[in-house]
Amino acid sequence: MFSTTLSKLRPSPIQVMAEQTRQAVRAGRSVVDMTLGEPDFPTPEHVGEAAVRAIAAGQTRYTPINGSVPLREAIVRKFQGHNGIPCTAADVTVGCGAKQVIYQAFLATLTPGDEVLIPAPYWASYADIVGMNGGVLRALETSPDTGYAAQPQALAAAITARTKWLVLNSPSNPSGTAYTAEQLLAFAEVVRRSHHRDFLILSDDIYEHILFDGTRFATLAEIAPDLRHRILTVNGVSKAYAMTGWRVGYACGPRALVEAMTKIQMQINSHTSSVSQAAAAAALDGPQDEVRRRCQVFQHRRDLLLERFAGIHGLRAPRPNGAFYLFPDVRAFLGRTAPDGRMISDDVVFASYLLDEGVAVVPGSGFGMPGFIRLSYATSDDRLHLAADRLAAALERLS
Ligand SMILES: Cc1ncc(COP(=O)(O)O)c(C=O)c1O
Repeated sequence: MFSTTLSKLRPSPIQVMAEQTRQAVRAGRSVVDMTLGEPDFPTPEHVGEAAVRAIAAGQTRYTPINGSVPLREAIVRKFQGHNGIPCTAADVTVGCGAKQVIYQAFLATLTPGDEVLIPAPYWASYADIVGMNGGVLRALETSPDTGYAAQPQALAAAITARTKWLVLNSPSNPSGTAYTAEQLLAFAEVVRRSHHRDFLILSDDIYEHILFDGTRFATLAEIAPDLRHRILTVNGVSKAYAMTGWRVGYACGPRALVEAMTKIQMQINSHTSSVSQAAAAAALDGPQDEVRRRCQVFQHRRDLLLERFAGIHGLRAPRPNGAFYLFPDVRAFLGRTAPDGRMISDDVVFASYLLDEGVAVVPGSGFGMPGFIRLSYATSDDRLHLAADRLAAALERLS
């Protein structure tokens, strides 16, 4: 009954854990949910007000497929003013979240067997989106020793005649790793020197504003102008402005690619909601101080958790410089036995044991890195302390 495309979809470990967590909560168990990939803050008030004004003004009809003119103009101001990427409204497209934009980029360009290079650990959806569009994901291995940063030599070795895309996601979901301009320049140099000169680069900048310790944001299209004709820069309002439910993502890049992506979107959902587009324009054009304040809150939470984890023997959590996730190495606990006799054979069993102990996390295998787990710290200090207490006690009980 089902298509071969559907067979490319793996059961998402994030959804599986989220469902198990919901079941546990429904059964009345106390669980600290650290599976979530969204900020726990509300959408800023002025953004909601702009949406209400848009409804009152009758902005409730179809917009252009590539996004309303006011939103695309706000995006151009953002890319030019904030990122130093020159573009016009014709080089920009808007989708129903960055996820749709990325989907359309791959659908527009991949032919079966094309390879997509992505540093692991990677956002789980990349794997499914690449697979559904006939592509083959080639993971660039990284290590906790280098903070999960991909190495230029690994990139150079992975590029082949079949390479169609290189995906960079900085700061990263799930590791929180953010590349400096110097690190990005090293990747750019590998791309320049490669014999294979026609692959594209997707820069997923969705966590751009969540950066710690004074790390300055850098993106490839800003620092490697000579490669701009090959770079699609993707961003969105979900994480920066706590607008996950509004569904607005956007991109700028080579005009022909952006137009092809828009052509596909025309036959999927035309465009995202006109009201959401008005809200997104208000977010991009409005005051940014709340974004900075929230970033400080995330940094404080990261420090709180890292400090607590430092006291847990065997749990190795590199210090991320962005996003709102930790990606600890839990390989030291694999092969041990839980009090109920269950053998902790891998990160999936490890995560389900932790759920039984009241902490919901996502196994790293979903992000292309078995033996690790991802925890989201988009929750309150009290909940983080409770999670750390439970984690420490649960790990203590393994023999
Ligand atoms: C790395 C990364 N890219 C893109 C997205 C998609 O965000 P949205 O579709 O909400 O804009 C996410 C969401 O979790 C993400 O983590």
